[in-house]
Amino acid sequence: MATFVPLVPRSTASYGVRLPHSKHHSMPIRVCLAGATGWAGSELARAIARQPDVVVVSAVSRKHGGECLSEVLDEPLLDCPVYTSAAEALADVPCDVFVEYTKPDIARSNILEALESGAHVVIGTSGLTDDDFADIDVMARGQNRGVLACGNFALTVVLLQKFAETAARLIPQWEIVDYATDSKVDAPSGTARELASRLSKVRAPEPTVPIDQTIGPRDTRGTTLSGSQVHSIRLPGFVISAEIIFGMPDQTLTIRHDSGSSARPYVDGALIAVRQVSRLVGVHRGLDAVLDL
Ligand SMILES: NC(=O)c1ccc[n+]([C@@H]2O[C@H](COP(=O)([O-])OP(=O)(O)OC[C@H]3O[C@@H](n4cnc5c(N)ncnc54)[C@H](OP(=O)(O)O)[C@@H]3O)[C@@H](O)[C@H]2O)c1
Repeated sequence: MATFVPLVPRSTASYGVRLPHSKHHSMPIRVCLAGATGWAGSELARAIARQPDVVVVSAVSRKHGGECLSEVLDEPLLDCPVYTSAAEALADVPCDVFVEYTKPDIARSNILEALESGAHVVIGTSGLTDDDFADIDVMARGQNRGVLACGNFALTVVLLQKFAETAARLIPQWEIVDYATDSKVDAPSGTARELASRLSKVRAPEPTVPIDQTIGPRDTRGTTLSGSQVHSIRLPGFVISAEIIFGMPDQTLTIRHDSGSSARPYVDGALIAVRQVSRLVGVHRGLDAVLDL
C-alpha cells in the first residue's frame, strides 16, 4: 500500500466549542476513525479535516479497505488509508485516539484492540452492554488509557440531561417522551434510556397513583425504565426528539431537544471527547466527564 502523509489542514476554522486539551500537544492528535465512511463517522471526519490540532491518520470500513479516505469522502484534506479492520489500521499506523463509530457487533473487539495498541478510545457506537464496559475498563486501567463513551454527543442533549438532573433534585414527578420517525424500529431511543438511567441516580420518581394501580389499559401509562415512565411516539413528520416533563401542583416544566436529519449535531461533542480523552484513565460514560457543567 502507498505511504500516506496526512496533509496539514489549510483551514483553522473551528467547529463549535473548543476546550484546551490537558496534555500540550505540539503535534496534532492522531486519530484512527473506525466507521469513517458511515453517516456519523463521515461527518466527524469532514469536521476533523478542518481542525488544526486533530488529524485522521487512518480509517476503517470493510467496503472501502485499500482506498484513500480523501477519495471516498471527496475531501482532499483526509489523505489517509482506509483499512478493512481496526486491527490492520492499528498495526500499520500509530494513533493517539481511536474513535469507534461502527456497529455494536464489532465495537467491543475494536476497542480492546485499540487499547492494547496503546491508544485512548472515544466510543460513539451504541449498544455496548454494562459487561462490555466492565471488561473495557479493566483493559483501559491496565494500559493506563482513557475511554470516553457517549450515547449522544449532541451538546444540546448533554445539557438536557444535566438540566433534567438538576430539576429532578427539586421535583419528584416527571415523565419522558421520545419522538422519532415512523421507520425507527427500536424503542425507546438510546437518549431516553440514558436519561432515565441518569435520573434513577438522582431519585426515584413519586407518582401520585402508582402505575400498577392504573385503572384501564396499563400500557397507556408507557413503560417503566429505571423508574421513569417513558412514552415513545413513532410517526412520519418527526426526526428525533427527546422531552422530559416535570410536574408540580399547578405548574409544569418541559425540557425538550430536537435534532434535524444530519449527523452535524454529534460533531462538537465528539471533537471535545477526542481532545479530552487523554485526561482520563479507565471507562467514563457521558461527555460531562470532561465538561465542567
Ligand atoms: N454517540 C452518538 O452521538 C451517535 C450519533 C450517531 C450514531 N451513533 C451510533 O454510531 C454507530 C454508527 O452509526 P451510523 O449511523 O454512522 O452507521 P452507518 O452509517 O451504518 O456507518 C457504520 C460505519 O461503520 C463501518 N462498519 C460497520 N461494520 C463494520 C465492521 N464489521 N468492520 C469495519 N467497519 C464496519 C461502515 O463501513 P462498511 O459498511 O464499509 O464496513 C461504516 O463506515 C451506531 O451504533 C449509532 O447508533 C452514535
